[in-house]
Amino acid sequence: TTVQLKRAYRNYFPIGTAVDSKMVTDPRTASFIAKQYSSVTPVNDMKPVNIHPSENVYKWAPADKIVNFAVQNGLKVRGHCLVWFYRMPHWFFWDNGQLASKELLYSRLDSHINTVMSRYKGKVYAYDVLNETVAKTTETTQYSRIDTLYKIAGEDYIEHVFRTARKADPSAKLFYNDTFYDEAKRDKIYAFLKEMKAKGVPIDGVGIQCHIGIDGMSEELLSNSIDMFAKLGLEVQITELDVSIFNREAKAKTVANDSDDYTIDKEGKQSDIFNMVFKVCRQRKGVVTGITTWAPADINNYLTKRLGKRNYPNLFDNNLKPKPM
Ligand code: XIL
Repeated sequence: TTVQLKRAYRNYFPIGTAVDSKMVTDPRTASFIAKQYSSVTPVNDMKPVNIHPSENVYKWAPADKIVNFAVQNGLKVRGHCLVWFYRMPHWFFWDNGQLASKELLYSRLDSHINTVMSRYKGKVYAYDVLNETVAKTTETTQYSRIDTLYKIAGEDYIEHVFRTARKADPSAKLFYNDTFYDEAKRDKIYAFLKEMKAKGVPIDGVGIQCHIGIDGMSEELLSNSIDMFAKLGLEVQITELDVSIFNREAKAKTVANDSDDYTIDKEGKQSDIFNMVFKVCRQRKGVVTGITTWAPADINNYLTKRLGKRNYPNLFDNNLKPKPM
């Protein structure tokens, strides 16, 4: 194949993909990734529960393999993620059978952030410091989900972790990463970021995940959102792009009649969505500083595993060949 994504986009921004340690140590997959992409994100291996499973016990090997692969091949690395309620190991929150105090929680968060960021200083250029913190629009808090972080520390933990991360590695870009598919949630994320910027919380950029369904995301929503975030002085990255062959809302498992055949019709719609996202981002080069897809190719994609129905949500097929789009 002659297509080389990273070459085609060299005057725009890095094109990344999410990887695990197996992909970067399998010679065929590794050389494919190094050829097509200019950035990688560890899909799971840097999440708190994976890299820091018990207090003072770090499992470095898988993340190290990814970072070493990237360094050897001149790829950038996005660190994903330092703090995410959904992937924090239990021990962070407990102290002899009782909920930990705020002081104890903060000392654990600080040592986690400091240890991970120190190890990868100069190698990981950007971090999703906080992932998916902003609650649904119906929640009663101002911004945060009502999770254990919130129960212990209130919304104060949000600025705390960003300030800690800035001190831990002042050269790293700090991102807030989240997902939205409608204006209501986008507006809440916008208000949150606006307030954080006004308070001087060190946030450099916002990651928009973009796990899009075949029913799409409107060009207007994506482009307006990027422009709004840019006005706050933030850079923007698409951090987890994939386009399912099912509607996003319809949990594919439960929709009996939606077959998992990868029809020409579905491939065409999917192609339009990918092209829209890449176009909107090219038009905003300088503000948009990266697009990362959530798997190098269809093989082993996260949606097939999650929904138990075959899916084909990526730019390259099961044989690592580029799709017509
Ligand atoms: C997913 C991974 O792809 C899966 O392998 C894992 O089982 C669950 O997490 N939002 C995120 C990502 O920020 O970290 C998630 O990744 C997908 C949704």
